[in-house]
Amino acid sequence: MKKLIQVAIDSPAAAGAGTQAKLIAKHYNLLYLDTGKIYRFIGYLKIKNKKKFNYSFVKKKIDKLSLKTIQNKSLLSDRVAIEASIIASDKKIRKIVNNFQTKCAYKPPKKFNGSVLDGRDITSVIMKKAMFKFFITADIKTRALRRFKELKSINDKISYDDVLKSIKKRDKNDFSRKISPLKKTKDSILINTTNLTKRSCFFKIKQIMDKKL
Ligand code: C5P
Repeated sequence: MKKLIQVAIDSPAAAGAGTQAKLIAKHYNLLYLDTGKIYRFIGYLKIKNKKKFNYSFVKKKIDKLSLKTIQNKSLLSDRVAIEASIIASDKKIRKIVNNFQTKCAYKPPKKFNGSVLDGRDITSVIMKKAMFKFFITADIKTRALRRFKELKSINDKISYDDVLKSIKKRDKNDFSRKISPLKKTKDSILINTTNLTKRSCFFKIKQIMDKKL
């Protein structure tokens, strides 16, 4: 049986991990799961269903979650991102989300050669034994500027300072929480995208991967 290619990526917000994960998925024909979107979806459910929101409500929604649902544009807003990073520190919520992620990571549909997941606890919890582990980062001002440009197209009232503040807040939540904090594991390869173009960054990752494949 062919060995599946498994790629695990962790990164702080807006460091370019999603872009690289998509390029990796396309090049090596892997299933791509942006795990942040699942937490964003739950954050969105909380905002929209204040009264109904509880663990069994979330479990029901996640049990029938499809990859299409998490592509919804309403999940991109900053309000949803902040809500996601708050609910993401809840142990029970993380447990509910883990089953879905594990299935994508270890049992991707047969048409794929494997999977690539990005998030905050992929290298440390979800895909500890992945063949490739990357920690992608960039300096905070670069990240804020990139996210600001993205968000500006869906909300022209947003300011750079708001985005910077929100990213700082999420970094604080994600790096310092007790359960599954964001960290670079010893066996992850550090990629700093601050001064790299999308293409040169992908080239670097591809070189690392091709050496082992
Ligand atoms: O990656 P993205 O910015 O969309 O993630 C939104 C939030 O979801 C993050 O700030 C983080 O708190 C949470 N998250 C997480 N674990 C993951 C992916 C995302 O806690 N694996």
